[in-house]
Amino acid sequence: MTITTSLAGSKKAFALSVLEGLRSVPKQISSKYFYDEHGDRLFQQIMRMPSYYLTDSEYEIFDHQKGSILRHLGNHPFDLIELGAGDGLKTKVLLRHLLENGISFKYRPVDISSSVLDTLQGSLEEELPDLEVAPLHGEYFQVLEDLQQLGDHQKKVIFFLGANIGNLTREESLAFLSQLNELLAPGDMLLLGVDLKKDPAVILEAYNDSEGITAAFNLNLLHRINRELDGNFDVDQFKHWETYNPLTGETKSYIVSKVQQEVEIGAISSLIHFDAWEAIEVELSQKYSVEEVEQLAKSSGFRLVKNFFDSKRYFIDSLWIKS
Ligand code: AVJ
Repeated sequence: MTITTSLAGSKKAFALSVLEGLRSVPKQISSKYFYDEHGDRLFQQIMRMPSYYLTDSEYEIFDHQKGSILRHLGNHPFDLIELGAGDGLKTKVLLRHLLENGISFKYRPVDISSSVLDTLQGSLEEELPDLEVAPLHGEYFQVLEDLQQLGDHQKKVIFFLGANIGNLTREESLAFLSQLNELLAPGDMLLLGVDLKKDPAVILEAYNDSEGITAAFNLNLLHRINRELDGNFDVDQFKHWETYNPLTGETKSYIVSKVQQEVEIGAISSLIHFDAWEAIEVELSQKYSVEEVEQLAKSSGFRLVKNFFDSKRYFIDSLWIKS
């Protein structure tokens, strides 16, 4: 099988990943490919849905506890490095508070979407003109290498918010956080946003809203393959399906084929067969208990400084230090 040689680098990675994923049993495609321009816009809509409680919970933590967060960040100056920055809505609350309190720091947002980074930088220049901003474009693990290249001795405060850690399995999270720990120096910190185990009905409603916004967000993956990889998915012949396992905390999204069908993907010269009701695994949004978060801190070489909870105890921003 030949991948069209004219494909540009990032498109080629997408093509290779789709080829490998759709040939696996079970079929799978990584949720990191949700975020093209359409996907970014749909995710913005998700974050505004009341049922997607994660945004409101974490915003409340930042808004109500910014003073306490500031006090627990310790000495400055530092580089505030935010992995997977998104639109930075809740971060701005804290950034403004840090500036108002004369904290000396540089803000380094990191994201896999350059359009998201551009928008964020533009809005920061307007809203917080005194803020020193130096964005980094890349994927989580690529960013770890970038961090290594920084080579300076500035104190680092890493923000990994919005339950982005949930896209990794528990094993992958441990590996990711351990690797991050190794790249940090004693005294460096991590603020980790984690979605907690809660009423399964609340979780399912967040990922299976009645308006169908999450369904559109997930199914955009098929539209993206059609657009970028010359695919011919008939998206109406697929449906979004969500599950939550209250034992393991695994929240998983699937795209399920409603009928037996063949799909052609030109860029990977492939004809993909789907049985009726065959599923593609597309996203993991792992939920944790507080004890599991504290265990994760210890296992990856950090010491827990403080857990910041929202009033419903749906979510925590857990502050860790490398000692
Ligand atoms: C951006 C990965 C935190 O898993 O909750 C939202 C993505 N997927 N609705 C999450 C998402 C469906 C979100 N993260």
